Amino acid sequence: MTTPLKVLGVSGSLRTGSYNRALLRAAIELMPPDMSIEEYNGIGDLPLYNPDIDVQGGPAPAVAWRTAVHAADALLIVTPEYNFGPSAALKNAIDWASRPPATSVLHAKPIALMGASTGMSGTTRAQLALRQSFVFTQSPVLSGPEVLVPYAATRFDAALRLTDAATRDFIHRHLVRFAEFARRLAPKTP
Ligand SMILES: Cc1cc2nc3c(=O)[nH]c(=O)nc-3n(C[C@H](O)[C@H](O)[C@H](O)COP(=O)(O)O)c2cc1C
Repeated sequence: MTTPLKVLGVSGSLRTGSYNRALLRAAIELMPPDMSIEEYNGIGDLPLYNPDIDVQGGPAPAVAWRTAVHAADALLIVTPEYNFGPSAALKNAIDWASRPPATSVLHAKPIALMGASTGMSGTTRAQLALRQSFVFTQSPVLSGPEVLVPYAATRFDAALRLTDAATRDFIHRHLVRFAEFARRLAPKTP
């Protein structure tokens, strides 16, 4: 059997009852057998990015974050939308992972995006803003179809389990496509 694709999953929301963390957990439930997804919960520990403290590998939370991104074959980012962009916590995590640019752990790292919002747009604009950042880091992002989960309160139950059957099926198929995409981009072993 193929070695499972090792994906690091990150939710951009720090909120306890986050729909985006719940969406990430649904992805873990629905991933195909040739994939593993490890949830990374440390982005809330990162200080605000400041080059003055980014010396000798950076502070411990930054070292842990960069090490985790580096070790993963691919990244699954599940983003909330805050004021038509990603959350500050997520953008900050991307900033930490992006430095120094010449050796960034994001360089060439395959990425898939998903997002849930309580309104009608389902994180469309936050995802577009993230795609723009990943142009700078030269990280290939699976282009589509986009996984947008609008009206999140209607798609999850009180225990934050994704109950909407069509969304569950769509996420599974998206992860199958993501596995193919990331494997195509993986460095070839001789
Ligand atoms: C500061 C802030 C800004 C927000 N801006 C948007 C927005 O631009 N678009 C949107 O659809 N929802 C917006 N929302 C509502 C979020 O979609 C909603 O709070 C959602 O539950 C956040 O994700 P989470 O459940 O993973 O924390 C905003 C919420 C907050 C707290």
